[in-house]
Amino acid sequence: MAASWSPESWRSKPIVQVPDYPDAAALASVEEKLATFPPLVFYNEVARLREKLAETAAGRGFMFQGGDCAESFKEHGPDNISSYFRVFLQSALVMTFAGGLPIVKIGRIAGQFAKPRSSSVEKQDGVELPSYRGDIINGAEFTAEARIPDPQRMLQAYRQSAATLNFLRAFLQGGYASLENVHRWALGFLNGKPIEAKYDELADEIERTREILKAMGVDERNTRPLQTTDFYTSHEALLLPYEQALTRRDGLMESGHVFATSAHFLWVGDRTRQPDHAHIEYLRGIYNPIGLKCGPSLEPDGLMRLIDLLDPANEPGRLTLIGRFGSDKIEKHLPKLMRAVKREGRNVIWMCDPMHGNTITASTGEKTRPLGRVRDEIERFFDIAQAEGVHPGGVHLEMTGQNVTECTGGAAKIVDTDLSQRYETLCDPRLNAEQSLEIAFMVAERLKGLRAARTAPLAATASA
Ligand code: PEP
Ligand code: CO
Repeated sequence: MAASWSPESWRSKPIVQVPDYPDAAALASVEEKLATFPPLVFYNEVARLREKLAETAAGRGFMFQGGDCAESFKEHGPDNISSYFRVFLQSALVMTFAGGLPIVKIGRIAGQFAKPRSSSVEKQDGVELPSYRGDIINGAEFTAEARIPDPQRMLQAYRQSAATLNFLRAFLQGGYASLENVHRWALGFLNGKPIEAKYDELADEIERTREILKAMGVDERNTRPLQTTDFYTSHEALLLPYEQALTRRDGLMESGHVFATSAHFLWVGDRTRQPDHAHIEYLRGIYNPIGLKCGPSLEPDGLMRLIDLLDPANEPGRLTLIGRFGSDKIEKHLPKLMRAVKREGRNVIWMCDPMHGNTITASTGEKTRPLGRVRDEIERFFDIAQAEGVHPGGVHLEMTGQNVTECTGGAAKIVDTDLSQRYETLCDPRLNAEQSLEIAFMVAERLKGLRAARTAPLAATASA
């Protein structure tokens, strides 16, 4: 029997990756303040996302989760948010049209600030300082002062999240995300590149579909799914004092469920998923749909134990397993995990994060991710799922709408010596706009294959 849970029961467990704040009173006062602030998301939205994910778990949907590795206080301009949103929605549209499946759209945005680090210290020119842990915790500048964890940063992160979410909601409400608009967006960054022709072809197909629908009396003015779309937010639930302060019991809809109001979907990272530690304790009690990062060190027994803790009632849509093995390791690790989960009849969603297992150091010194490896891990993910008779339920990308040079390869053939041109990430290397669309097109191809496999037996029955 699991012990009783409360929003603060994580406090009696061991915890890693969350800093010690030097001023406990200052921390407590920020937590108190946050606890009085309005929630960022509404209970019904969370419940609706759970329903959509339950459909996805049953093979009738596909999750697309993507955004920054780490949001920052500096980069909070409208262009940054709108360019991300455009590329994200366009990528989702590519997948929707190819796959014939509802795409559940979840951004890594409006709260993705806290970062786990592989080392607690960083060295530069013989000087050692505590690592940067994301703008919600400390500053990225390499000075002793900036690296001191400051609880006031949580208030700024909350306010930035609220403003970002407001901007996104305005886009959704105001028609910016309508089918008509999304498929017409000029893709300046694709000018003359091979992927532009592919996108134009898709845009023509969408235009034809719209014309047929219009002739039938269905258009953006009278049909909500053409007018806007559902979009959800997510981040890693790392900084538990912040998460706890925004954890509330739903009274407005009288469900009585306790849920995190910092985002719709929260996940636990590969470094903080110890079953007897604080992060799993916190996540097991909230009503939100949650994700669990699964890396190469996770064995089937360990995974089953975590599933029992996080989803004891085996509720479809509750738990998404986010594999992040690396293109060279996925073959060794994913099949045995998928088999164990299937054998036990657990209703989870399997998703592929092709980013975090494929980070290497370029010959020029930057952290990078070769696009070939990213593609390769996705291809293998689909192959393995198909071979195991499991629904490949989603992809998880670190991406930006900006034209950065952080990942090598792709149609633009970015090489190591190009990386320094626009290397802007505060943390992990992200796909730029063009690379994100390239990945969306390859995912779309695989979804097309799935669709063909889904309809083949039907066609056979029909003609029999
Ligand atoms: C991340 O998603 O940014 C991350 C740190 O992932 P992981 O926990 O899988 O390393
Ligand atoms: Co990352």
